[in-house]
Amino acid sequence: MTSIFAPLSGGRGVKVFAPATVANVVCGFDVLGFAVNEPGDEVIMRITNKPGIIISKITGDNGRLPLDPAKNTVSVSVQHYLQSIGRTDIGLDIELHKKMPIGSGLGSSSASTVAGLFAAKTLLGDDTDPAKLLPFARKGEEMACGHGHADNVAPALLGGFVLIRSYDPLDVIRLPHPKDLYCAIVFPDVDVPTREARQIIRNKILMKDAVTQWGNIAGLVSGLFMNDIDLIGRSMKDILVEPVRSMLIPDFYKMREMAMEMGAVSFGISGSGPSVFAFTRDEETARKITQKLQRHLTSIQIGSNTYVSDINDKGPKVL
Ligand code: HSE
Repeated sequence: MTSIFAPLSGGRGVKVFAPATVANVVCGFDVLGFAVNEPGDEVIMRITNKPGIIISKITGDNGRLPLDPAKNTVSVSVQHYLQSIGRTDIGLDIELHKKMPIGSGLGSSSASTVAGLFAAKTLLGDDTDPAKLLPFARKGEEMACGHGHADNVAPALLGGFVLIRSYDPLDVIRLPHPKDLYCAIVFPDVDVPTREARQIIRNKILMKDAVTQWGNIAGLVSGLFMNDIDLIGRSMKDILVEPVRSMLIPDFYKMREMAMEMGAVSFGISGSGPSVFAFTRDEETARKITQKLQRHLTSIQIGSNTYVSDINDKGPKVL
């Protein structure tokens, strides 16, 4: 591998995919998240001969994302990374190909940011632990929604199921999970920006509610370690955030009832919504649930996208 201190020749390039993520996992607001296989974003990055970062192309965003490198989460986080390793002398040309919906609650900005950071790390031949990129990825989240939560960027970068044990100092733990856990995702075509979805939640909670919530988080984490899918299912309850955010999602409780009747292990909001997800014990049940919920949304005139995946343990990959 090339040393990060070696001169780099112009024209070298790399294409990287980074996955969508389900943050919170119902009861773990800001502290739990996992990566899925699809959807995700792609970044193509090339070394140029002129120092500085440019964004030459963005596709799949319907013109919603800025090409200005000072305003785009990908370039801003890559710039922080270059500064940290003392390589602001190099030039980078970034193409961002959005392959997933923006404002979906599936970690759209973090998939782009992580793809960009991983591309830069790969191009520079920097073989340090990908977890070292987390602080820069959080800068991207800060810019995207005003808060540097790590429950999307950490699983997008590390893959698998991740716990943010502490934010200050940052302490991120990869958790085991049952191999046969499938995730059915439905993204109803309504806009719920994370920034706004964070503003509507309460910032004070009752002790008795906290007790309920941390019992469930501990139950979910225990279920992951014990391979106990029933325990995972009965622990995935959120009395703090879901009652408020579910109001932004069309027929949330109806969709939950349908998914549970069809054999889902659990059902809840993905990240800040409007996407919802269900865990199932097999792929077929996950597919049937997505089809049924999509038909229901169509019947109330709401378009949707659906995805079925197991948990993605790899995180970003060079294509
Ligand atoms: N934990 C974050 C939130 C995730 O719920 O606001 C956003 O995708």
